[in-house]
Amino acid sequence: MKVAVILPAAGLGTRMRPAAPEGTGTSRKQFMLLEGAPILLHTIRKFLRSPLVTEIVVALRREDIEWVEEMLKREQPSKSVRLVEGGESRQQSVENALAEVSADTDLVAVHDAVRPFIDEQTLRNVIEEAARTGAAIVGIVPVDTVKQVHRTRVRATLPRERLILTQTPQVFRLELLKEAFEKARRDGFVGTDESSLVERLDKVEVAVVPGTDYNIKITKPADMELARFILSRQSAEQKAS
Ligand code: C5P
Repeated sequence: MKVAVILPAAGLGTRMRPAAPEGTGTSRKQFMLLEGAPILLHTIRKFLRSPLVTEIVVALRREDIEWVEEMLKREQPSKSVRLVEGGESRQQSVENALAEVSADTDLVAVHDAVRPFIDEQTLRNVIEEAARTGAAIVGIVPVDTVKQVHRTRVRATLPRERLILTQTPQVFRLELLKEAFEKARRDGFVGTDESSLVERLDKVEVAVVPGTDYNIKITKPADMELARFILSRQSAEQKAS
């Protein structure tokens, strides 16, 4: 089975206020340094190591393609890692990357470049589920009660037991994901994840597999402190094993 991973990494990271990491000339969150390596590289390494993944396509801003290419050469990747230019929205970035996926791909796993702590077991679970059903995503149950609001006023309390917070990877059969993107483009629909595009097709039910609290999306400044902590714990575990 051929599994391609798409990593959208072409965002501006406007919710972060980071110091520019050395050497990259950029301050965007996907390139902030964790133990000396940009977050994106930590994420790419997870998929390079996974025996489940056959190829990786990364969507980048045009000005980042060259130095990321240089950085990847030094990694001597064991499988194909292609770099494509992203777009103005995350959806456009993924669509551009999707066009570059090998035609004989069975499943496409889309994963936020800023989630470097994805573990092999979760990846395996979501891929196996998508192989069975056509579409599967990773999610965790919320611990907070979620409310719908209008400005500063509560409009509704959502039943927590029926909610999940979506993480990535989100995995789909190639043809299904392509069809979902085509329909979204036709309808002018822009979603914040790939699942919402596939849901609109009304063709398959999207399955949910449990994620972990460690699979964080590095979005806000405080997330970097948490990321350093998770990384040091993981490094200690690796040394011990
Ligand atoms: O913006 P958001 O937090 O949803 O970003 C999630 C991922 O999508 C990040 O890795 C970001 O770099 C990527 N992205 C992208 N192209 C955009 C906007 C976001 O690849 N235009």
